[in-house]
Amino acid sequence: TIRAVVEGVGHYLPERIVPNTWFEEFLDTSDEWIRTRSGIERRHFAAEGETTSDLAVKAATVALENAGLTADDIDGVLVATSTPDLTFPSVATMVQSRLGMTRGFGFDVQAVCAGFIYALANANALIVSGQAKRLLIIGAETFSRIMDWEDRSTCVLFGDGAGALVLGAAEGEGTSDDRGILATDLNSDGRYRDMLYVDGGVSTTGTSGKLRMQGNPLFRQAVEKLTSTAETALASAGLGHDDINWIVPHQANIRIIAGTAKKMGVPLDRVIVTVQEHGNTSAASIPLAMAEGVAQGKIKRGDLIVSEAIGGGLAWGAVVLRW
Ligand code: ACO
Repeated sequence: TIRAVVEGVGHYLPERIVPNTWFEEFLDTSDEWIRTRSGIERRHFAAEGETTSDLAVKAATVALENAGLTADDIDGVLVATSTPDLTFPSVATMVQSRLGMTRGFGFDVQAVCAGFIYALANANALIVSGQAKRLLIIGAETFSRIMDWEDRSTCVLFGDGAGALVLGAAEGEGTSDDRGILATDLNSDGRYRDMLYVDGGVSTTGTSGKLRMQGNPLFRQAVEKLTSTAETALASAGLGHDDINWIVPHQANIRIIAGTAKKMGVPLDRVIVTVQEHGNTSAASIPLAMAEGVAQGKIKRGDLIVSEAIGGGLAWGAVVLRW
Protein backbone atom coordinates (compact mmCIF):
# COMPACT_ATOMS: atom_id res chain seq x y z
CA THR A 1 0.00 0.00 0.00
CA ILE A 2 1.27 3.48 -0.85
CA ARG A 3 1.09 6.10 1.89
CA ALA A 4 1.83 9.85 1.76
CA VAL A 5 4.45 10.31 4.49
CA VAL A 6 5.73 13.56 6.04
CA GLU A 7 9.40 13.98 5.06
CA GLY A 8 9.97 17.55 6.19
CA VAL A 9 8.32 20.54 7.81
CA GLY A 10 9.13 24.26 7.86
CA HIS A 11 7.64 27.63 8.59
CA TYR A 12 8.18 31.35 8.21
CA LEU A 13 6.72 34.27 10.15
CA PRO A 14 7.14 37.92 9.11
CA GLU A 15 9.53 39.86 11.37
CA ARG A 16 7.01 42.41 12.63
CA ILE A 17 5.28 41.28 15.83
CA VAL A 18 2.18 43.23 16.86
CA PRO A 19 0.96 42.95 20.48
CA ASN A 20 -2.71 43.38 21.43
CA THR A 21 -1.93 46.76 22.99
CA TRP A 22 -1.19 48.15 19.47
CA PHE A 23 -4.95 48.04 18.72
CA GLU A 24 -5.77 50.04 21.87
CA GLU A 25 -4.26 53.10 20.18
CA PHE A 26 -6.95 53.36 17.51
CA LEU A 27 -9.85 51.06 18.52
CA ASP A 28 -12.24 50.74 21.45
CA THR A 29 -10.69 47.42 22.52
CA SER A 30 -8.27 46.06 25.12
CA ASP A 31 -5.54 43.49 25.54
CA GLU A 32 -7.78 41.98 28.24
CA TRP A 33 -10.78 41.55 25.86
CA ILE A 34 -8.70 40.03 23.06
CA ARG A 35 -6.88 37.62 25.41
CA THR A 36 -9.94 36.37 27.26
CA ARG A 37 -12.26 36.10 24.23
CA SER A 38 -9.77 34.62 21.75
CA GLY A 39 -6.55 33.57 23.54
CA ILE A 40 -4.55 35.76 21.15
CA GLU A 41 -1.65 37.79 22.63
CA ARG A 42 0.27 38.84 19.53
CA ARG A 43 0.48 38.19 15.80
CA HIS A 44 2.92 38.78 12.94
CA PHE A 45 2.15 41.16 10.08
CA ALA A 46 3.93 41.10 6.72
CA ALA A 47 6.01 44.16 5.84
CA GLU A 48 4.86 46.53 3.12
CA GLY A 49 5.55 44.84 -0.19
CA GLU A 50 6.03 41.42 1.43
CA THR A 51 3.63 39.02 -0.31
CA THR A 52 2.07 35.64 0.30
CA SER A 53 4.48 34.03 -2.19
CA ASP A 54 7.44 35.56 -0.28
CA LEU A 55 6.26 33.87 2.92
CA ALA A 56 5.50 30.63 1.06
CA VAL A 57 8.95 30.41 -0.57
CA LYS A 58 10.68 30.89 2.80
CA ALA A 59 8.58 28.21 4.54
CA ALA A 60 9.09 25.84 1.59
CA THR A 61 12.86 26.34 1.62
CA VAL A 62 13.02 25.42 5.32
CA ALA A 63 10.80 22.35 4.76
CA LEU A 64 13.01 21.13 1.89
CA GLU A 65 16.14 21.58 4.05
CA ASN A 66 14.43 19.75 6.89
CA ALA A 67 13.66 16.86 4.51
CA GLY A 68 17.22 16.86 3.15
CA LEU A 69 15.85 17.41 -0.35
CA THR A 70 16.07 20.01 -3.10
CA ALA A 71 13.40 21.44 -5.39
CA ASP A 72 14.55 18.97 -8.08
CA ASP A 73 13.06 16.18 -5.97
CA ILE A 74 9.55 17.73 -6.01
CA ASP A 75 6.85 16.70 -8.50
CA GLY A 76 4.30 19.35 -7.56
CA VAL A 77 3.50 22.34 -5.35
CA LEU A 78 0.11 22.87 -3.70
CA VAL A 79 -0.50 26.20 -1.96
CA ALA A 80 -3.50 26.69 0.31
CA THR A 81 -4.31 30.40 0.37
CA SER A 82 -7.17 32.89 0.18
CA THR A 83 -4.81 35.86 -0.06
CA PRO A 84 -2.83 35.25 -3.28
CA ASP A 85 -0.37 37.84 -4.62
CA LEU A 86 -2.49 38.24 -7.77
CA THR A 87 -5.81 36.91 -9.04
CA PHE A 88 -3.66 34.73 -11.27
CA PRO A 89 -1.22 33.08 -11.84
CA SER A 90 -1.38 30.87 -8.76
CA VAL A 91 0.94 31.41 -5.81
CA ALA A 92 2.03 27.79 -6.36
CA THR A 93 3.50 28.57 -9.78
CA MET A 94 5.30 31.59 -8.31
CA VAL A 95 6.80 29.36 -5.62
CA GLN A 96 7.68 26.76 -8.25
CA SER A 97 9.68 29.25 -10.34
CA ARG A 98 11.34 30.89 -7.35
CA LEU A 99 12.54 27.50 -6.14
CA GLY A 100 14.03 26.97 -9.61
CA MET A 101 11.64 24.21 -10.65
CA THR A 102 11.01 23.87 -14.37
CA ARG A 103 9.20 20.53 -14.27
CA GLY A 104 6.16 19.24 -12.38
CA PHE A 105 3.04 21.24 -11.58
CA GLY A 106 1.65 23.79 -9.16
CA PHE A 107 -1.83 24.93 -8.19
CA ASP A 108 -3.61 26.78 -5.39
CA VAL A 109 -6.33 25.39 -3.14
CA GLN A 110 -8.93 27.84 -1.84
CA ALA A 111 -10.91 26.60 1.13
CA VAL A 112 -10.13 29.54 3.44
CA CYS A 113 -9.17 28.36 6.95
CA ALA A 114 -9.75 24.73 5.98
CA GLY A 115 -7.39 25.17 3.00
CA PHE A 116 -4.46 23.21 4.41
CA ILE A 117 -6.71 20.23 5.21
CA TYR A 118 -8.10 20.37 1.66
CA ALA A 119 -4.57 20.62 0.22
CA LEU A 120 -3.39 17.62 2.28
CA ALA A 121 -6.39 15.57 1.11
CA ASN A 122 -5.63 16.46 -2.53
CA ALA A 123 -1.92 15.75 -2.12
CA ASN A 124 -2.72 12.41 -0.50
CA ALA A 125 -4.96 11.46 -3.43
CA LEU A 126 -2.24 12.40 -5.96
CA ILE A 127 0.36 10.34 -4.13
CA VAL A 128 -1.79 7.30 -3.34
CA SER A 129 -2.97 7.14 -6.97
CA GLY A 130 0.61 7.22 -8.21
CA GLN A 131 0.34 10.58 -10.00
CA ALA A 132 3.10 12.13 -7.89
CA LYS A 133 5.90 10.78 -5.72
CA ARG A 134 6.79 13.88 -3.77
CA LEU A 135 4.83 17.08 -3.14
CA LEU A 136 5.34 20.35 -1.36
CA ILE A 137 2.18 21.44 0.49
CA ILE A 138 2.18 25.02 1.73
CA GLY A 139 -0.30 27.12 3.71
CA ALA A 140 0.51 30.83 3.26
CA GLU A 141 -1.54 33.92 4.03
CA THR A 142 -1.39 37.70 4.39
CA PHE A 143 -4.78 38.25 6.04
CA SER A 144 -3.58 41.68 7.26
CA ARG A 145 -4.30 42.84 3.68
CA ILE A 146 -8.03 42.08 3.94
CA MET A 147 -8.66 43.53 7.40
CA ASP A 148 -11.10 46.38 8.01
CA TRP A 149 -9.03 48.31 10.58
CA GLU A 150 -12.18 50.01 11.86
CA ASP A 151 -13.90 46.71 12.70
CA ARG A 152 -12.71 45.70 16.18
CA SER A 153 -14.62 42.40 16.00
CA THR A 154 -12.37 41.07 13.20
CA CYS A 155 -9.09 42.96 12.78
CA VAL A 156 -7.71 41.93 16.17
CA LEU A 157 -8.05 38.22 15.38
CA PHE A 158 -5.88 37.54 12.32
CA GLY A 159 -2.19 37.32 11.45
CA ASP A 160 0.19 36.54 8.58
CA GLY A 161 2.53 33.56 8.10
CA ALA A 162 3.34 30.38 6.21
CA GLY A 163 4.04 26.72 6.92
CA ALA A 164 5.01 23.85 4.64
CA LEU A 165 5.24 20.08 4.56
CA VAL A 166 7.06 17.78 2.17
CA LEU A 167 5.02 14.62 1.55
CA GLY A 168 6.57 11.60 -0.14
CA ALA A 169 5.26 8.22 -1.31
CA ALA A 170 6.20 5.29 0.93
CA GLU A 171 5.34 1.62 0.67
CA GLY A 172 3.77 0.11 3.80
CA GLU A 173 1.69 -2.71 5.24
CA GLY A 174 -1.48 -0.64 4.98
CA THR A 175 -2.18 -0.70 8.71
CA SER A 176 -2.82 2.23 11.06
CA ASP A 177 0.68 1.67 12.49
CA ASP A 178 2.23 2.82 9.21
CA ARG A 179 3.45 6.37 8.97
CA GLY A 180 1.61 8.76 6.66
CA ILE A 181 -1.88 10.05 6.00
CA LEU A 182 -4.37 7.45 7.25
CA ALA A 183 -7.70 9.20 6.59
CA THR A 184 -9.22 12.48 5.46
CA ASP A 185 -12.72 13.99 5.70
CA LEU A 186 -13.88 17.05 3.74
CA ASN A 187 -17.15 19.00 4.03
CA SER A 188 -18.62 22.29 2.88
CA ASP A 189 -22.04 23.93 2.99
CA GLY A 190 -22.55 27.12 1.00
CA ARG A 191 -25.73 28.03 2.86
CA TYR A 192 -23.45 29.57 5.48
CA ARG A 193 -21.72 32.02 3.11
CA ASP A 194 -22.76 35.11 5.06
CA MET A 195 -21.07 33.95 8.26
CA LEU A 196 -17.59 34.60 6.92
CA TYR A 197 -16.73 36.19 3.60
CA VAL A 198 -14.73 38.90 1.85
CA ASP A 199 -16.92 41.68 0.44
CA GLY A 200 -15.06 42.13 -2.84
CA GLY A 201 -13.73 40.21 -5.81
CA VAL A 202 -12.95 40.15 -9.51
CA SER A 203 -16.44 39.55 -10.85
CA THR A 204 -18.31 41.72 -8.34
CA THR A 205 -16.64 44.88 -7.07
CA GLY A 206 -13.37 44.64 -8.94
CA THR A 207 -11.60 45.23 -5.62
CA SER A 208 -10.03 42.73 -3.25
CA GLY A 209 -12.49 43.59 -0.44
CA LYS A 210 -12.40 43.22 3.35
CA LEU A 211 -13.16 40.29 5.65
CA ARG A 212 -16.63 40.20 7.23
CA MET A 213 -17.52 37.75 9.98
CA GLN A 214 -20.43 36.92 12.27
CA GLY A 215 -18.12 35.66 15.00
CA ASN A 216 -20.64 34.41 17.50
CA PRO A 217 -22.83 32.22 15.21
CA LEU A 218 -19.66 30.89 13.60
CA PHE A 219 -18.26 30.04 17.01
CA ARG A 220 -21.35 27.97 17.76
CA GLN A 221 -21.05 26.05 14.45
CA ALA A 222 -17.32 25.49 14.88
CA VAL A 223 -17.07 23.14 17.88
CA GLU A 224 -19.83 20.85 16.65
CA LYS A 225 -18.59 20.59 13.05
CA LEU A 226 -14.92 20.23 14.04
CA THR A 227 -15.65 17.43 16.50
CA SER A 228 -17.80 15.62 13.98
CA THR A 229 -15.26 15.79 11.11
CA ALA A 230 -12.37 14.76 13.39
CA GLU A 231 -14.34 11.78 14.70
CA THR A 232 -15.38 10.75 11.19
CA ALA A 233 -11.76 10.79 10.01
CA LEU A 234 -10.57 8.91 13.11
CA ALA A 235 -13.24 6.23 12.67
CA SER A 236 -12.37 5.76 9.01
CA ALA A 237 -8.76 5.16 10.07
CA GLY A 238 -10.13 2.52 12.50
CA LEU A 239 -8.94 4.56 15.49
CA GLY A 240 -10.43 6.29 18.53
CA HIS A 241 -9.60 9.24 20.77
CA ASP A 242 -7.31 7.16 23.01
CA ASP A 243 -5.00 6.66 20.03
CA ILE A 244 -4.41 10.39 19.54
CA ASN A 245 -0.99 11.74 20.53
CA TRP A 246 -1.60 15.31 19.34
CA ILE A 247 -4.49 17.33 18.05
CA VAL A 248 -3.05 20.01 15.74
CA PRO A 249 -6.10 22.22 15.19
CA HIS A 250 -6.72 25.31 13.11
CA GLN A 251 -5.86 28.20 15.42
CA ALA A 252 -8.80 30.63 15.42
CA ASN A 253 -9.77 30.88 19.06
CA ILE A 254 -8.52 29.08 22.20
CA ARG A 255 -12.13 28.55 23.30
CA ILE A 256 -12.93 26.71 20.05
CA ILE A 257 -9.70 24.68 20.32
CA ALA A 258 -10.37 23.74 23.96
CA GLY A 259 -14.09 23.10 23.39
CA THR A 260 -13.39 20.73 20.49
CA ALA A 261 -10.67 18.82 22.39
CA LYS A 262 -13.00 18.44 25.37
CA LYS A 263 -15.85 17.16 23.22
CA MET A 264 -13.44 14.64 21.66
CA GLY A 265 -12.29 13.48 25.10
CA VAL A 266 -8.69 14.66 24.63
CA PRO A 267 -6.99 16.73 27.38
CA LEU A 268 -5.66 20.17 26.41
CA ASP A 269 -2.08 19.11 27.17
CA ARG A 270 -2.27 16.89 24.06
CA VAL A 271 -3.21 19.83 21.82
CA ILE A 272 -0.67 22.04 20.00
CA VAL A 273 -1.69 25.64 20.71
CA THR A 274 -0.04 28.57 18.92
CA VAL A 275 -2.98 30.99 18.65
CA GLN A 276 -1.49 33.17 21.42
CA GLU A 277 1.61 33.80 19.27
CA HIS A 278 0.19 33.83 15.73
CA GLY A 279 -3.49 34.82 15.89
CA ASN A 280 -5.61 33.24 13.17
CA THR A 281 -3.39 32.75 10.10
CA SER A 282 -6.12 30.93 8.15
CA ALA A 283 -4.65 28.20 5.89
CA ALA A 284 -1.18 28.71 7.41
CA SER A 285 -2.18 27.95 10.99
CA ILE A 286 -1.99 24.14 10.89
CA PRO A 287 1.43 23.80 9.24
CA LEU A 288 2.72 26.60 11.50
CA ALA A 289 1.47 24.66 14.53
CA MET A 290 2.98 21.42 13.19
CA ALA A 291 6.36 23.12 12.75
CA GLU A 292 6.11 24.59 16.26
CA GLY A 293 5.08 21.22 17.75
CA VAL A 294 8.12 19.54 16.18
CA ALA A 295 10.49 22.37 17.19
CA GLN A 296 9.28 22.12 20.81
CA GLY A 297 9.99 18.37 20.81
CA LYS A 298 6.31 17.53 21.29
CA ILE A 299 5.48 15.92 17.93
CA LYS A 300 7.72 12.90 17.31
CA ARG A 301 8.02 10.36 14.52
CA GLY A 302 5.27 7.75 14.82
CA ASP A 303 2.88 10.01 16.76
CA LEU A 304 -0.78 9.96 15.75
CA ILE A 305 -1.88 13.45 14.74
CA VAL A 306 -5.42 14.67 14.14
CA SER A 307 -5.80 18.05 12.43
CA GLU A 308 -9.14 19.81 11.99
CA ALA A 309 -10.18 23.18 10.58
CA ILE A 310 -13.23 25.24 9.67
CA GLY A 311 -13.58 28.49 7.77
CA GLY A 312 -15.39 30.49 5.13
CA GLY A 313 -17.86 28.57 2.96
CA LEU A 314 -18.43 27.16 5.40
CA ALA A 315 -15.76 24.59 4.58
CA TRP A 316 -14.37 22.18 7.14
CA GLY A 317 -12.47 18.93 7.40
CA ALA A 318 -9.94 16.75 9.17
CA VAL A 319 -6.84 14.70 8.49
CA VAL A 320 -5.52 11.77 10.52
CA LEU A 321 -1.85 11.11 10.02
CA ARG A 322 0.92 9.18 11.67
CA TRP A 323 3.90 11.58 11.76
N1 ACO B 1 -12.77 44.58 21.76
C1 ACO B 1 -13.75 44.85 22.65
N2 ACO B 1 -15.02 44.45 22.49
C2 ACO B 1 -15.32 43.76 21.37
C3 ACO B 1 -14.35 43.47 20.39
C4 ACO B 1 -13.04 43.92 20.62
N3 ACO B 1 -12.02 43.67 19.75
N4 ACO B 1 -14.94 42.79 19.40
C5 ACO B 1 -16.23 42.63 19.72
N5 ACO B 1 -16.46 43.23 20.92
C6 ACO B 1 -17.71 43.29 21.67
C7 ACO B 1 -18.92 43.09 20.80
O1 ACO B 1 -19.28 44.31 20.18
C8 ACO B 1 -19.96 42.62 21.78
O2 ACO B 1 -20.45 43.74 22.45
P1 ACO B 1 -22.02 43.84 22.81
O3 ACO B 1 -22.28 42.66 23.71
O4 ACO B 1 -22.09 45.15 23.47
O5 ACO B 1 -22.72 43.74 21.49
C9 ACO B 1 -19.15 41.81 22.80
O6 ACO B 1 -17.76 42.21 22.59
C10 ACO B 1 -19.28 40.31 22.64
O7 ACO B 1 -19.12 39.97 21.29
P2 ACO B 1 -19.31 38.49 20.76
O8 ACO B 1 -19.10 38.50 19.29
O9 ACO B 1 -20.56 37.91 21.29
O10 ACO B 1 -18.09 37.78 21.50
P3 ACO B 1 -17.66 36.28 21.44
O11 ACO B 1 -17.50 35.75 22.79
O12 ACO B 1 -18.46 35.47 20.45
O13 ACO B 1 -16.17 36.38 20.86
C11 ACO B 1 -15.06 36.07 18.73
C12 ACO B 1 -15.97 36.94 19.58
C13 ACO B 1 -13.67 36.05 19.39
C14 ACO B 1 -14.97 36.63 17.35
C15 ACO B 1 -15.64 34.65 18.70
O14 ACO B 1 -16.99 34.71 18.36
C16 ACO B 1 -14.96 33.76 17.71
O15 ACO B 1 -13.79 33.44 17.85
N6 ACO B 1 -15.72 33.27 16.72
C17 ACO B 1 -15.25 32.32 15.78
C18 ACO B 1 -14.44 33.00 14.81
C19 ACO B 1 -13.71 32.00 14.00
O16 ACO B 1 -13.50 30.87 14.38
N7 ACO B 1 -13.30 32.48 12.89
C20 ACO B 1 -12.45 31.81 12.13
C21 ACO B 1 -12.92 30.58 11.45
S1 ACO B 1 -12.64 30.79 9.84
C22 ACO B 1 -11.21 31.53 9.62
O17 ACO B 1 -10.28 31.24 10.35
C23 ACO B 1 -11.07 32.53 8.50
